[in-house]
Amino acid sequence: MKLGIISLGGKSSQMLGDACRNFFDEVDDLDLRNFHTSLNNGGSSILYKGEELDDYDCLMLRGSFRYALLQRSIARAYYDKLYMPINPEAFTLAHDKFLTLVELQKHGLAIPKTHYAATKDLAMYILNSVHYPIIMKLQEGTHGKGVMIAESKESARTILDLLDNFGKAYIIQEFVQTDRMSDIRLIVVGRKVIAAYKRIAEAGDIRSNVHAGGTREKYEPNKNEKKLAIRAAKAIGIDICGVDVFDSDEPSIIEINLSPALHSIHEVSNKNTLNDIAQYLFLQTIKFKKKKEEKIIKKIERRANKKLMEEEKLT
Ligand SMILES: Nc1ncnc2c1ncn2[C@@H]1O[C@H](COP(=O)(O)OP(=O)(O)O)[C@@H](O)[C@H]1O
Ligand SMILES: [Mg+2]
Repeated sequence: MKLGIISLGGKSSQMLGDACRNFFDEVDDLDLRNFHTSLNNGGSSILYKGEELDDYDCLMLRGSFRYALLQRSIARAYYDKLYMPINPEAFTLAHDKFLTLVELQKHGLAIPKTHYAATKDLAMYILNSVHYPIIMKLQEGTHGKGVMIAESKESARTILDLLDNFGKAYIIQEFVQTDRMSDIRLIVVGRKVIAAYKRIAEAGDIRSNVHAGGTREKYEPNKNEKKLAIRAAKAIGIDICGVDVFDSDEPSIIEINLSPALHSIHEVSNKNTLNDIAQYLFLQTIKFKKKKEEKIIKKIERRANKKLMEEEKLT
């Protein structure tokens, strides 16, 4: 069987490819930036380096929010044809922090109190009614770079001006008090949490991201946290992802990561995450192929039966 890992070529994707080589006959590393898509009345085509993509049994799509539309269009073209662990819509949903929360809330999952306003006036109205500190964050972002804390209305107003200046949406969120400015990263695969660890913000910061100076610790998630993460992944339509949950008595979801870092989880967890994901991809691909074959068999049988009945009618 043949697997394609479409990514930006980071360490996690490379190492996942290596782990998958223990299961799949062939594994290709495909650079997301070399894909383009063309649509016309007759259909659509996804081209890789300007050529038709080879036949694959499984495509694993990774990469940043900057490529959400491309990822969604690639997934839309192949999702029914071969096994892909992330459904097309999830690429635009999960890359958007506010839309993710809208969907999770609809599924009855715990999220922090969050406001969204389309105009500066309405955002100001919200700022007049919330308790401080608050968090203001960009819709899309990663590594904690779009997350800002406002201790007071005065600081929030200055952030509002900045967002207005750059034409960004206004997302205003309650500041969630956690154990040690920490959160829990849970790696969900299928209906299981295969690994988890705690992330703790650097002293003087509120963001637990490793790229923002955060550190990681071993952590055994409790039942509530696991259940929340698994239900969140299912609500968005993803088989493999990282779910971040606030490290508080009442866990709630921060965000869902479609391309969680995988290369160094073994440093904070005794789980072999890469192997588990590779094995899952392999088994799901077999199941997908089987289902597809069964469908074809049924279709042919139905057609043959119909023909037989018609012939019987004639005689
Ligand atoms: N509402 C909040 N209350 C407290 N801390 C927060 C809140 N939102 C985010 N954080 C902190 O900032 C980090 C980054 O936020 P997140 O929304 O996940 O953005 P990014 O996609 O950049 O990681 C979180 O992991 C958490 O440590
Ligand atoms: Mg995050």
